[in-house]
Amino acid sequence: MKNIQWIKSPENREGAAYTFVKRFSAKDVKYAVAKISAMGIYTAFINGERLGNQVLTPGFTSYRRRVQYQSYDITSLLQEENKIEINAGPGWASGNFGLEGKDKVFAEHISIVAEIELTLENGEKEIVTTDETWETFSNKVTFSGIFCGETFDATHTPVRIGFAAADEIGASLIPDVGEKILEQERIAPVELITTPNGERVIDFGQNMTGYVEFCVQGKREERIVTDCAEVLDKDGNFYNENYRSAKNEVVFILDGEKRTYKPQFSFQGFRYIRLKEYPDIPVDFANIRAIAVHSDLRRIGYFSCGEARVNQLYHNIIWGQKSNYLDIPTDCPQRDERQGWTGDAQVFCRAAAMNYDVSKFFEKWLADLRLEQREDGAIYGVCPESFKNPQSHTMVSAAWGDAAVIIPWELYRAYGDKRILADNFEMMKKWVNYQRSAGNEEFLWLGGRHYGDWLAMDAGGESCVGATSNDLIASAFYAGAADIVVRAGEVLREDVSGYRELHKNIVAKFREYFLENGLPKAEFPLTEPVRPGKKVQDALRLGMTQTALVLILHFRLCKEDERGLVADKLEELIESFGTRMTTGFVGTPYILHVLTESGKTELAYKLLLQNKNPSWLYSVEHGATTMWEHWNGIREDGSLWGADMNSFNHYAYGAVGDWLYGAAAGITVCEDGAGYKKMTIAPHPCKELGFINCKMETASGTVESNWYCKGEKVYFEITVPHGAEAKIILPNGYEEDVCGGKYNFTV
Ligand code: BGC
Repeated sequence: MKNIQWIKSPENREGAAYTFVKRFSAKDVKYAVAKISAMGIYTAFINGERLGNQVLTPGFTSYRRRVQYQSYDITSLLQEENKIEINAGPGWASGNFGLEGKDKVFAEHISIVAEIELTLENGEKEIVTTDETWETFSNKVTFSGIFCGETFDATHTPVRIGFAAADEIGASLIPDVGEKILEQERIAPVELITTPNGERVIDFGQNMTGYVEFCVQGKREERIVTDCAEVLDKDGNFYNENYRSAKNEVVFILDGEKRTYKPQFSFQGFRYIRLKEYPDIPVDFANIRAIAVHSDLRRIGYFSCGEARVNQLYHNIIWGQKSNYLDIPTDCPQRDERQGWTGDAQVFCRAAAMNYDVSKFFEKWLADLRLEQREDGAIYGVCPESFKNPQSHTMVSAAWGDAAVIIPWELYRAYGDKRILADNFEMMKKWVNYQRSAGNEEFLWLGGRHYGDWLAMDAGGESCVGATSNDLIASAFYAGAADIVVRAGEVLREDVSGYRELHKNIVAKFREYFLENGLPKAEFPLTEPVRPGKKVQDALRLGMTQTALVLILHFRLCKEDERGLVADKLEELIESFGTRMTTGFVGTPYILHVLTESGKTELAYKLLLQNKNPSWLYSVEHGATTMWEHWNGIREDGSLWGADMNSFNHYAYGAVGDWLYGAAAGITVCEDGAGYKKMTIAPHPCKELGFINCKMETASGTVESNWYCKGEKVYFEITVPHGAEAKIILPNGYEEDVCGGKYNFTV
């Protein structure tokens, strides 16, 4: 699709959708394809038939650089005289969306582009493209936005409003490269609640991303008006302050006919909807469905055990992924963010890659990340960067930017496809080069602005940033990134001797600057600026935190013979905090793994099964159906943590999923056998869990690790796919190298 005229509506009413129409003849057509895109969100129809089943097309990419188009086979829909109609709403590109600006971040106008290629019986081609022969009409969607919701006025009669050529579109058009965004689960309401303050609220029983469909007949001009919520407040009343400026208001104005309505250009994150207005008819559950919308990923991982709360946690991890893998990996789907936060994506990607095949999903996003990487190698906090003024986006943070190395590496490990490393290798190296030049020390990353151990609990429950020193976090991730570049380079047979040397130097310098006998020094110089007006206190730059110890172990920063000491200290800190974690986004993903690697699996299980805040089961016991952003989003007394940063659908802490697969069930891919050509299967049974059934459909075939406790014995049933190799390691120390087949053991 090249050199095709984009067109826009001559009118540009706030939030309004428009319909672009073209009539064309088609005779003796052998086959026909329509290619369509928009700066906005579109749905297309030929002779009244909807094209395809994808929703929220053309999807979300780095709109300043590239925008996808979809191709539809329209052969069977054509008649002699045809009408193509393209409805387009403002969507991500030109509507109420964005991290800064929150409106028209990428484009002032909705605009569309289309090309219909008719191949005639005689082999000749006729092309119909968007040009001045198209007409624009007003649309029944009179208002919409990703954050604000949507208004559909069934009484509105579209009026002709002429034609306008679009302004120059800088983005190049590319065929769609990601997974399709589809309507997935259809969920019936479970309860109609009348809240203590008299409002009618429908509970769907599951927090999710999508929208609600109504099939109703009311009187003309009657309205359905809803907004939504993830939780009810302490008293059982509707609560949506945590959505901040995102109104999520859906309005349906009836015309007296029986109609089915659902938003086309917006989506919401919700479990509950409030009926602010409803026609004078009974609320009939048969006619109301919540529709979960997400990228169409193939499920590959399955886990269940004998502990209902852990199963609920796993369910919440899966639904956290469903809710936030909507074309890009988002932080949350409900409030005025819904951004591709790089840190969140990085933290969760390993678990995500075990739950679903996320290779294509991430290939698309990583391509955007590459395009948005700054010349000097910096990687921003969000991708696609949705700042009206990209210059205002100056935050380049450790652990967030590391998405550029960690995600390609994890995808390679999971699926064994070297191409993912090859495609991203330049970006990975550039990020490490950036880290090298970012601080005032070549082999440490000191200073700068970072998100830190985001939402950790050790800086006081009210702070968003944990107590761990940013310098220590940044330098630890710098070491980790250099190490990944070395390992990726070895896979690609690239010369990485410079990075190997660099990694050695970072580790040496890290030890000298931060550590004494493997443990963080009581004090090291503070370089970090205090952010004016932020809760971060410079007194909170500590080295001796759970997260610091976790990072030292995970990135192998202390000497090998000091690891035991570091792990003991970690245990001590955990125990002194009531056998609980204080870790945030940075430390949590690795804490159980480093405990298991240090022979402290019993303690790892205690953390997994802990139910006092902060813990995974705390949210489960407080009714969570997805992962919470805050360990204590709902406090012990039922009050809410706060309105500002309190999402109930943030997948980051769902990273624990990879410990369930990798340690509890024990299926871990070996580095020299990416894609599970080689793996270890080292299950860690636990009486409280009783049993685990775990299955993964890997690139090398289906792996299973099941165990159950009976009396004093544990029974293991392990399946290794043919063509793969596994080292089985049982808790009693028994080891066996096996190839494809089924293996049973009793210990
Ligand atoms: C997001 C996070 C994100 C963070 C950066 C928040 O507003 O929701 O998940 O990583 O900002 O610190």
